[in-house]
This record gives sequence, C-alpha cells and structure tokens, in this order.
Amino acid sequence: MDQNLWYKNAVFYEISVSAFKDSSGDGRGDLRGLAEKLDYLQKLGVDCVWLMPIYPSPLKDDGYDISDYYNVAKSFGGLDDLKFLVDNAHTRSIRVIMDLVMNHTSDEHPWFQSARADQNSLFHGYYVWSDTDKKYEEARIIFTDVESSNWTWDEKAGQYYWHRFYASQPDLNFDNPKVQDEMLNIARFWLDMGIDGFRVDAAPYLFERENTNCENLPETHAYLKKLRAFMDANYPGRILLCEANQWPEDVRPYFGDGDEFHMGFHFPIMPRIYMALKKGRVDDMLGILNRMPSIPDNCQWCTFLRNHDELTLEMVTPEERQWMWEQYAPELRMRLNQGIRRRLAPLLDNDRRKIELANSLLFTLPGSPIIYYGDEIGMGDNISLDDRNGVRTPMQWNASPNAGFTKSKPYVPLLEGEYSPEHVNVASQLADPNSLFNTIHRMITVHKEHLAFGWGDFEWLNVGTNAIAAYKRTYKGETMLILNNLSDKKQTTHLQKSKAVDAFTHEVVTLDTTTLQPYQYMWLILKD
Ligand code: GLC
Repeated sequence: MDQNLWYKNAVFYEISVSAFKDSSGDGRGDLRGLAEKLDYLQKLGVDCVWLMPIYPSPLKDDGYDISDYYNVAKSFGGLDDLKFLVDNAHTRSIRVIMDLVMNHTSDEHPWFQSARADQNSLFHGYYVWSDTDKKYEEARIIFTDVESSNWTWDEKAGQYYWHRFYASQPDLNFDNPKVQDEMLNIARFWLDMGIDGFRVDAAPYLFERENTNCENLPETHAYLKKLRAFMDANYPGRILLCEANQWPEDVRPYFGDGDEFHMGFHFPIMPRIYMALKKGRVDDMLGILNRMPSIPDNCQWCTFLRNHDELTLEMVTPEERQWMWEQYAPELRMRLNQGIRRRLAPLLDNDRRKIELANSLLFTLPGSPIIYYGDEIGMGDNISLDDRNGVRTPMQWNASPNAGFTKSKPYVPLLEGEYSPEHVNVASQLADPNSLFNTIHRMITVHKEHLAFGWGDFEWLNVGTNAIAAYKRTYKGETMLILNNLSDKKQTTHLQKSKAVDAFTHEVVTLDTTTLQPYQYMWLILKD
C-alpha cells in the first residue's frame, strides 16, 4: 500500500495544547506536557494528532488570531519543544499536524499594525480595505452573537477593513501575490520542522468578490490547488485537512480531482448523527448521505462528533436548527452563534449506550475518525465560561485536586459535579476494562484491523426498520456489516440468513431475525 495515503485509514485526535498537560507549572498546558502524554495517546491508538494553534497570539480567539506565524507562543514552550514533541511522536508512529490559519491574522500582527499606520506601507495591501462598508453585502456573518458587520472602521487607517470572524481578526488579501507567497513560506517553515501537515482553518473565505457570498470562490480553489502542488512537489506524504463548513455540493470541490485537499471534515453528516439519535430514526443521516457526491480515491473524509467549536448548525435548515436547539440546548446559555456549545457526553445525557453508539457511527461511516480530546473518557463542559471555552477545559488525568493537569492553579476552572475529575478521569478508566476509554480503544483496534473502514465501499441496507442504521463496508473480499440501533426500544432486523463473526469478541453469530437492544451496535464480519 502507498504509505503516502496513510490518512485513508488513520485515527485522528484533536488537542487543545493549553488544556492538555502543563509541565512548566504555570497552570497552562504546553508542548513538553503534551510530550509526556504521548504514551497515553499511543495506548489509545491514535495515528495523528492535530494541535490547535500554538503561535504567538493575543488570544482573543484562543490562538486563531496569530501575531507571528514563525514562532511558538512562550506559554507553550518554544520551537525546540515543538521539535522535541514531533520527534518523540514520530518514534511512536504518531504524526502531528497543526492549524494553518490562512484567512486572517490578529490585529496585533506587525503586518496589520504597519498596514493601518501607513497607506504606503508594503503591508497595507496585505489586508482588505474599503472606504465604505457597503461592499460584499451578500457575505454572511459567522460570529453572529458578537459581530454585526464584516467591516470594521479603523481610525488609524481612516478606512474599513474586512473580517469574516472577530473584528480582531482582519482578513488577509489573497489577491495580493505577496500574501500568497508568504503563506507558502509559512507552510514550508513548519514542514521543514517535521510537521506532517495542516488543518487549514476557514478555507472557504480566502477571496472576496462582489455579488457573491464570498465563499468557495474559484479563486480560492485555484490558490488551494497551488498550496497542494507545493506540498506534493516538496513534501509528499504530508497532508492538508480542510475546514469547510459547507453543504455537500460546496464541500466536494475542496477535494478537486484529488489535487486540492487530502482530507475534509465531514460537516454535513455531523449534526444529522445527533438528529438520528434523538429521533431514533435514520432518515436525516440517510438523506444527507444520499446527497453526498463521491470523492477521489486518494482523498478521505474526516468524521467527527465534536470539536473545539460550537456544534455547528450552520448547514441545516432554520427549522432543523430550531429543533436541534430545543432538543440539545434547552438553556439559552448552551447556544452560541448558530450552534451549541456543549460536549459529547452531556449532549447525550451522559448515557453510556448513546455515547458508544455515536462512536460506533463515527468509526464505521466512510472516513477517518477524529476524537476531540477528553471525549474518549466522557468529559463534560462548563457553560458558565464564555464563548467556546466551556468545551476546552483541562484534561482530567486523575482524581487529584488539579486533575493531574498542573501543579498549580489551572488557567480555567476544572469541571465540577458529575463530570469532575473525581468522577471522570484517565487513571481510573485505564484501570477499568469496561471504561469508556477501553471501549473506544477497542473500537480503534478493530478499526485498524479492517481496512474496509478506511478503504471500503459503503452500501446502505434496508433491514426492515428505519430505527437501525445498517450498512456494509467492503474491501478486497472482506465485508463488514454494521448495525446501529438508534432507538431506545428493542429492534429486530430482517436479514438474509447468514453466518458472521463479531469483530470485537470473535464469536460466531447467526444472522436472521436478529434483535438489537436499545442503542446497541454490532460490528460483524460476514462469512457468507
Ligand atoms: C475556525 C476555528 C474557530 C475559529 C475560526 C476563526 O472556524 O475552528 O475556532 O474561531 O476558524 O479562525
């Protein structure tokens, strides 16, 4: 098999470095701390970690507001610590990708400081300026809770500047060839350090054009293809993972003809997994899966249940969004922008059956799964923290007062109550063969044993009830049959009489009219 296609069948893990493990004692996680936990990640079985931004930043958007692209923020350590982490990860066959925030910088970036101070500065043209705020009016606002316009007046410059996110994140001007080149230089810098690729933040918004919604423009795709060609020519085997929160038709072009992104987050399926679980019916999932265009062979979806942002409801109908809010975010504080700022376990009522079932879908639907740190132990959230910070609380390593996260006071409070470190922590779950951690670990193990999950065809099955998500994954003569009972009632399937082997227990099972308990899932290897 072509080793450069490793991501086709890999398990990913997203990490907030600030929240993972503090080695310096300042109460914030850092790269040395993360390196101490590589054994844990290896034990879980992850193949690649994605680090949220570690660049110097004023932290108005948790590091997605970068003030220096060529350095590591002091609180995380330094470039040497990143190198140390990457080398140590590689010796364990764990790859490391990081965020590449291309669309915007921090307003504290020296480029922007120079751009706003002097219209003749070389950097003025790095940003998008206007004398009126009436341009590009069809572009939606993303951070709807905070921003009312994509333009902000800058006193110093005497002009408006364009920003798709917070006003403290001015958009770069990709019409400027210097910006285009600069971004390639930034990519080169990190790839030369040994980074295995990038999660490309906010990919759809690079260019702006009048009378469009300024998303997914042909110019944006052309530039992304240039970035890909640069990677292929100089760094084969390193990947680009796309954050494009779009409808199926618009997300598909980010794979190009296999010459744009290697991977893309499967945004369309994500909210519909939650719909399916709540309704106990496959319809919403099936509807969107039928609408998904196929992707080139050298590309892969990245499936996810949760991440560091709100559970986005941008790509559902207004009625569906309202319904999801009512079902999953009954308290207004649980809502943010067009989404829900809660973690997996609380969303699923801390019901072990539902959490496992959601993970069963995550690991068996087409794509390479990504786990959001802490979800493998069922961590909770803290909706009293603002913005998305409530889902970014410190990793709970053990039941000690600071959860084994830091020797001093954590930079944000630890969770309390049912989800406190006393009740939810790594140490106790490692010791318990029936813990959520060990269940997820087994799912990862089985996922790796069967290439059908990463490489196989996908065929939806009608098993006589729409309460069961049933499908086959087939690759090179092996067929896996996956059954997921989405409902809180027993369900009976009507399957062709056949023999199968349970992928977890290796027991032989005779399929026929097989009954699944509420929220039960089965991963089977068909033996004709
Ligand atoms: C992406 C990130 C999000 C960030 C935004 C602006 O959507 O996931 O956390 O706030 O981009 O960079």
